[in-house]
Amino acid sequence: ARAGQLSVTPHQLAQHNQLDDAWLAIRGKVYNVTHYLPFHPGGAEELQRGIGKDATTLFDEVHAWVNYESLLQKCYLGRLVSVDPEVDT
Ligand code: HEM
Repeated sequence: ARAGQLSVTPHQLAQHNQLDDAWLAIRGKVYNVTHYLPFHPGGAEELQRGIGKDATTLFDEVHAWVNYESLLQKCYLGRLVSVDPEVDT
């Protein structure tokens, strides 16, 4: 599947929790933020707190008003899907 059309499970998302391989999800949308990390105005360390997981709550606690959909347009990978226990355990 191409970037922008991926279906990503929480398990797969959790594999990308490193500085050089950083994904996160906000409101069901999964982004590869690896290349955005150095540009995050709040610092790479702050953004790092949200990687490898659904960062919606964390994101909203800090800056719900930030237009992440526009800023991360080129980083969009696809949708966060729920786990099918028969396929992804
Ligand atoms: C600013 C944390 C994700 C975009 C900040 C600041 C913090 C922070 C603490 C404030 C810095 C300051 O005032 O000096 C976090 C955390 C994240 C996260 C914990 C984990 C999910 C994101 C994402 C984006 C983003 C995904 C969008 C691509 C921004 C922008 C600012 C900012 C644009 C500046 C906001 C402003 O000055 O009004 N972030 N951030 N952040 N962050 Fe994040």
